[in-house]
Amino acid sequence: MTVPLLEIRNLSIVFDTAEGPLHTVNNLSYSLMPGETLGIVGESGSGKSVHIMALLGLLPSPQARIISGEILFDGENLLTLTEKELCNIRGGKIGMIFQNPMSSLNPVLTIGRQIREVILRHTNMNRKQATAHTIELLDLVGISAPASRLTQYPHEFSGGMRQRVMIAIGLACNPKLLIADEATTALDVTVQAQIVDLIQNLKEKSGVTIIWITHDISSVSTLADTLQVMYAGRVMERGPFSTVINDPRSAYTWGLLRAIPTLHMHPGQRLYQIPGSPPNMLSPPMGDPFAPRNPFATPRCHHDMPPLRQVPNSLPGHMAAAWYDLPALLSLHPEASDV
Ligand SMILES: Nc1ncnc2c1ncn2[C@@H]1O[C@H](COP(=O)(O)OP(=O)(O)OP(=O)(O)O)[C@@H](O)[C@H]1O
Ligand SMILES: [Mg+2]
Repeated sequence: MTVPLLEIRNLSIVFDTAEGPLHTVNNLSYSLMPGETLGIVGESGSGKSVHIMALLGLLPSPQARIISGEILFDGENLLTLTEKELCNIRGGKIGMIFQNPMSSLNPVLTIGRQIREVILRHTNMNRKQATAHTIELLDLVGISAPASRLTQYPHEFSGGMRQRVMIAIGLACNPKLLIADEATTALDVTVQAQIVDLIQNLKEKSGVTIIWITHDISSVSTLADTLQVMYAGRVMERGPFSTVINDPRSAYTWGLLRAIPTLHMHPGQRLYQIPGSPPNMLSPPMGDPFAPRNPFATPRCHHDMPPLRQVPNSLPGHMAAAWYDLPALLSLHPEASDV
C-alpha cells in the first residue's frame, strides 16, 4: 500500500499577540499521496501560509507556538527536527516557490549564482556540474538562451521570468514535494497561465508532489487533483477537484464558487459576495466558524463544530465539515442560487 508523503495530524498553532492568543490553525489534519497535486484555497487569514511555515520550520519565534500536532514527511516528524536538519530539508527534499520573486531573489547576485548556490548546498555536485545543472533548469522552466542568462541580475528579468527562476530554484534539488504559495498572484493572467502550464508539464515529467496555495480556484483547475478549502485554520471541504467544484457540500465552498466572475455574466449583474467577514480568532466561535455567515446554518452549527467526514454517496475522499445537507437545502431554496 502506498503511504502518504505528507501527513499533518491535529495541528494547532497560536500566535501570542498584545490582545491575547490568536488561534490561526485549528486541529488541521490532511494527507498527501506521492505524485498528488493538492490545491488549497480559502479567504485571507484562513491559515494557508501559517501551516506551511510550520511545516518548513519558519514560524516566527517566540510569537508562534505549535500547541498540538504532528507533521510527518517522508517518514519523519518535521516538528521534532533540529534547525540544521530542517535547513537540509528546505530547498532539498522540499522545494518552495513564494509570491514575490523580487523580494525572494537577491538583487545584487546573478541569477546563475543564486540557483547554483542552492544546488551546491544540497547536493554533492561540484561547481562545474552545478553550473551545467543550472543551465538545464533554466531551460526546463522555459528561459531562452539559458547559458547566456547566468550572468544577468534579477532586474534584467521580467516578472514572469523571475517567477520562472524561482521555480527553477524550487526544483533545483529534485524535491519530493514542491510548495507554491500564491506563486502566480502577482503575475498577469497570460503569464499565470504559462506558469501553470509549465508546472503541469513538470508534474507529468517528474511526478513531483505539489501543494499549490491560491485565492483563485480557477487558477488551479488544470493542475490540482485534489481541492482543499480552508476557513479559520480548518479544512471545511476536500476531495477530487471536479467533485468539489461540481457538488460542493460545505456552504463556504459553495459561496467561494459563486463569488467567481464568469464570462457569461450579463452587464450590470452583481457578483455574489459571502456575507459578513471571517471570525475573530482571538475568541474562536464554539461551533462551525462559518455558521454566522452561512445562510443555511442549522442551530447545531452555532455551538457544535462538525467533523470533517466522508460525504455519503460521493466519491471516496470527498470530505466535508457540515451538519446540513447542502444539495437538499439548495433544492428547497432554488432562489438562493439566483442571488
Ligand atoms: N507574524 C504574525 N503575527 C501574528 N499573527 C499572524 C502572523 N502571521 C500570520 N498571522 C495571522 O495568522 C492568521 C493566518 O494567516 P495566514 O498568513 O496563514 O493566512 P492565509 O490563509 O495565508 O491568508 P492569505 O490568503 O492572505 O495569504 C491570520 O489571522 C494572520 O493575521
Ligand atoms: Mg498566505
